[in-house]
Amino acid sequence: MSLFNSPFDPTREAALVTGAGNGIGRAIAQALVGEGVRTLFADLREDTVRASVAASPRPELAVPWVGDLATREACDRLLADARAALGQVTHFVHSASPPRREADHAFAVSQDTWRQMHAVNLDAGFHLSRELARQLIAAKQPGSFLLLTSLHAGTPRNLPHYSTSKAALAMLVRELAKTVGRHGIRVNALVPGAIAAGGFVADPSLAKHIPLGRLGRSEDLAPIALAVLSNRISAYVTGAAIVVDGGLSLTNWFEPPELGDI
Ligand SMILES: NC(=O)c1ccc[n+]([C@@H]2O[C@H](COP(=O)([O-])OP(=O)(O)OC[C@H]3O[C@@H](n4cnc5c(N)ncnc54)[C@H](O)[C@@H]3O)[C@@H](O)[C@H]2O)c1
Repeated sequence: MSLFNSPFDPTREAALVTGAGNGIGRAIAQALVGEGVRTLFADLREDTVRASVAASPRPELAVPWVGDLATREACDRLLADARAALGQVTHFVHSASPPRREADHAFAVSQDTWRQMHAVNLDAGFHLSRELARQLIAAKQPGSFLLLTSLHAGTPRNLPHYSTSKAALAMLVRELAKTVGRHGIRVNALVPGAIAAGGFVADPSLAKHIPLGRLGRSEDLAPIALAVLSNRISAYVTGAAIVVDGGLSLTNWFEPPELGDI
């Protein structure tokens, strides 16, 4: 049996994806369903969740869910609804994140915007991961979690509410990976570069700074996300940060060399 033909075991594995109504979360949720994994699509807006489910390769395996993950009540409702709809959730993807607005620099960002960003990215990411891990440990089942961080977990973005939440999330991945590893639960970070996905309004001129010569697409993230989520393909990978950026993070003040005749 080919490893890549059956990365998941749909008879006992099920997934929960936040931010599944748009962009990267949508692409990952749809790819999971395409692999036969029953998947809950969670997002803020009913129309985008329903459209995302309807456009899935196998909509009958997709469960739509709508709520504001900035609140603890909604996170707890999500956990209960996921359990009722799917049974044990074994795979978790946290892609939800509020919009980034370029105007929200350090002297402009409001307290509400700061709190909302940290509540969705970090607080919901922590609470959902911890409670799903608690359930898996009680059931003595392995699991795999993937949290979307950012290159701006390590470099400024001129949006301090965003970069600080992602920096904290990057450390949360490492904390959780260490804490739950002996229970067979893997926790990793997916680190996108400049992905024209909805959450990032891309300036096409950025492409010239990207070694692979183009902005990314959500579809560039989904295959590697599935590979890292798969307990068959990535059984020995935890606490890792998987960068998918076309080489953007290699960019600095040196231009690539002129190669001449090679
Ligand atoms: N696009 C990029 O270039 C890029 C780069 C680095 C990191 N990321 C990260 O990848 C993830 C996905 O990015 P994207 O570009 O696909 O974003 P996106 O804006 O297209 O999708 C994010 C989704 O999260 C949902 N969401 C926002 N607030 C929510 C809330 N309170 N409750 C529930 N859902 C909520 C939105 O409705 C949206 O559908 C984010 O965590 C983002 O920070 C993206």
